[in-house]
Amino acid sequence: MKVLSSTSELFPFIKTGGLADVTGALPKALGAFGVEVKTVLPGYPQVMPLLSDNPPLVVFNDLFGERAALHHVSAEGLDLFVIDAPALFDRSGGPYVDACGIDYPDNWKRFASLSLVTAEIANGLLPGWGPDIVHTHDWQSALTSVYMRQAGCSTPVVLTVHNLAFQGQYPAYLLGALGLSPNTYTIDGLEYYGDISYLKGGLTTADAITTVSPTYAREILAPRFGMGLQGVLRKRAGILRGIVNGIDRDIWNPETDHNLPVNYTVHDIDRKSANRLPLLERFNLDRDDGPVFAAVSRLTWQKGMDILVEVSGEIVSRGGKLIVLGQGDRSIEEALVASAACFPGRMAVELGYCEADAHLIHAGSDIIVQPSRFEPCGLTQLYALRYGTIPVVSRTGGLAETIIDANDAAISAGVATGFQFDPVDGSGLRDGIHRAYDAWRIPSIWRRLQKQAMQADFSWQRSAGQYAELYLELQKRHVRTEQ
Ligand code: ADP
Ligand code: GLC
Repeated sequence: MKVLSSTSELFPFIKTGGLADVTGALPKALGAFGVEVKTVLPGYPQVMPLLSDNPPLVVFNDLFGERAALHHVSAEGLDLFVIDAPALFDRSGGPYVDACGIDYPDNWKRFASLSLVTAEIANGLLPGWGPDIVHTHDWQSALTSVYMRQAGCSTPVVLTVHNLAFQGQYPAYLLGALGLSPNTYTIDGLEYYGDISYLKGGLTTADAITTVSPTYAREILAPRFGMGLQGVLRKRAGILRGIVNGIDRDIWNPETDHNLPVNYTVHDIDRKSANRLPLLERFNLDRDDGPVFAAVSRLTWQKGMDILVEVSGEIVSRGGKLIVLGQGDRSIEEALVASAACFPGRMAVELGYCEADAHLIHAGSDIIVQPSRFEPCGLTQLYALRYGTIPVVSRTGGLAETIIDANDAAISAGVATGFQFDPVDGSGLRDGIHRAYDAWRIPSIWRRLQKQAMQADFSWQRSAGQYAELYLELQKRHVRTEQ
């Protein structure tokens, strides 16, 4: 089975969030199921050094008015098709925004290029290689199935929605510039409140839609989480399913993680505490006892980081410490920094992005806080489990699904792995934090929670098996209809 995946982020080359972790780990996990994945990726400055001097597979003289070339390269166990188009992708900021955090004005064209090149590969661009299935991710590659159908290519397409909040909405007058015919612009197609929605285009033309947890797959059918697309999704409910994300157990492994001063396993969990002091030193915090709470997150409304600001004083006043690593909305960043200034030695905020610090925080802290207002899956809480760090999470989406609340029944059954709270506001989070604090004070209970957390299995194997099954189902159906 040959799969062509198309993504705007891919770990370890370019990452702003969980999308990269998933598109980077899934191809490797699918190998065990006989699925061979090749991934189409924009040639960002972080990606271009991977290319050798080999000539490109294809040269495009006019990719939305720009010159471009398609290269093939294998790196870090991943098989890549890289789109070398300096005018589109050679930028000094991130993949979507410039150094000031402003969206690039030509994102419509940048990610339409990703979709168009993917569609052309699916439609036979490369002699000798074509996919059985195309797998697109979020709005950035969602136009792929629109371009494929327009070109008469019927290869099955899976669209995975990692986050419905980002939809790729652009003015309708771009339709011609996008090379799309007027009959794609209908209420059952690209049209979205008078604009074009890339994500809606994908949702209405893909053969299967997945999202990253079964709970989120249900939640998005209603207005509260549907972000305006609930009607479209309800019409497509028959082809929508949730497959929970896994984690890369080689990269997130406390036994071998080279970012940790001291490695440990579930069998010598005492050694985890040797990472505490280096963590406190790294963030200039007092060395006294008391639980260390932490958040590694985009600092946005989705992630409820404003709610964390609201309760930070309470965490500190009960003797805890708080570390926040992240970047995002300017107002939330400023509020967090202001709060940390009130609690020197007790609260630290690091604005920025650092993989190594993320690993150290997961190992050296006691509790990870995730007060998300919505969360399609969430990976941070899964990394926390693996590192014996207990998650306090809002009861929503993938958080509700992956963390077993430490209520009395779950504690006595020996299955609890963290704390869920509801409602998702200051009072809810306060309650979650108090419950965690109380459990932390009883070492025997805390140790059981840690062991149960570390033994929870969120490897990719099960989820990759579900994707492999879905691909097979679609392939069989496609072969039948072609006969
Ligand atoms: P989302 O994709 O919505 O941001 P996830 O929980 O699925 O949320 O994934 C977030 C990923 O990004 C995790 O791998 C997390 O460790 C990482 N991450 C987020 N912010 C930072 C940061 N400031 N520094 C390092 N890693 C970060
Ligand atoms: C999105 C979601 C997050 C999910 C990630 C990977 O960014 O916000 O919940 O874990 O994608 O699927």
